Amino acid sequence: TWTPECFVETTVAELKEKIGNDKVVLGLSGGVDSTVAAVLISKAIGKNLYCIFVNNGLLRKNEFESVLDQYKDMGLNVKGVDASARFLKELKGESDPEGKRKIIGRVFIEVFDDEAHEIQDVSWLAQGTIYPDVIESVSATGGPSATIKSHHNVGGLPDFMKLKIVEPLNKIFKDEVRRVGKSMGIDPELLGRHPFPGPGLGIRILGDITADKVRMLQEVDHIFIQGLKEDGLYNDVWQAGAMLLPVNSVGVMGDERTYEKAVVLRAVESTDGMTADWVNLPYEFLQKTSNKIINNVKGVNRVVYDISSKPPATIEWE
Ligand code: XMP
Repeated sequence: TWTPECFVETTVAELKEKIGNDKVVLGLSGGVDSTVAAVLISKAIGKNLYCIFVNNGLLRKNEFESVLDQYKDMGLNVKGVDASARFLKELKGESDPEGKRKIIGRVFIEVFDDEAHEIQDVSWLAQGTIYPDVIESVSATGGPSATIKSHHNVGGLPDFMKLKIVEPLNKIFKDEVRRVGKSMGIDPELLGRHPFPGPGLGIRILGDITADKVRMLQEVDHIFIQGLKEDGLYNDVWQAGAMLLPVNSVGVMGDERTYEKAVVLRAVESTDGMTADWVNLPYEFLQKTSNKIINNVKGVNRVVYDISSKPPATIEWE
């Protein structure tokens, strides 16, 4: 029978054998797969694993700093690269969903390639690809591996894509990845994180992206996700998040008329992201969360809850 302990033991031995004294580069996303892959490879080759964690400016509130600290505490050899300003500049004025995805994917590759060049004599690229990614060939859960794949056939490969590939999780499923992570002592909170798309909040801000919209959505998302955790609902939900609509609506605050943004809260149940049902969150929770958002997030005066399932809707709005 398959056990996580056996998997770790044999995989670490195989990795040692395969990689020897070579250097490996890996893109961390903050997600489960890339984290488990990194810890596993680092068990085999230690500091010869160079991890790169790129801040595209579209992560959740405080995520870059807190996850980077967590990675350092785990003993990973990781470099955090804050490229927020560059992403924001390149995204300026783009409002088409696929256009935004392309820009975010391209800039990620450029930033990652620059960083990979800083490492002398690197010969391997490690990825957190899991078995379902291999069969579907497109990751549903995001992270650098997904971004890289969808750009595979763009002419003139960046140098890091010419490296030899090592994918220690490519024969196992998500639940096994979590068990492997647990058996290596990775924080259960990190292992239980909801999936988050590679393009991040960039595809949850409908229309064009500005620094102010990112700030607004980060606040809204933070209140929602913290609330789910505080009320013990987070683990009952497969994925949750908020969207910022390109719509102003009339509201009233004191005796002032307001004309501000509307946001959408979305929480779904799913097993693989291919189909999904909206979650019947308690009314009291929705009521409390809506009040908190409107009272605390400047620029937002209306909150709605998405009650669409997939299909025919999708999980993300873009
Ligand atoms: P949809 O919106 O297609 O989402 O129902 C299904 C799952 O995929 C995630 N998603 C993405 N992940 N890059 C990613 O890495 C993307 O461009 C992307 N679009 C959607 C989504 O968050 C959900 O988990």
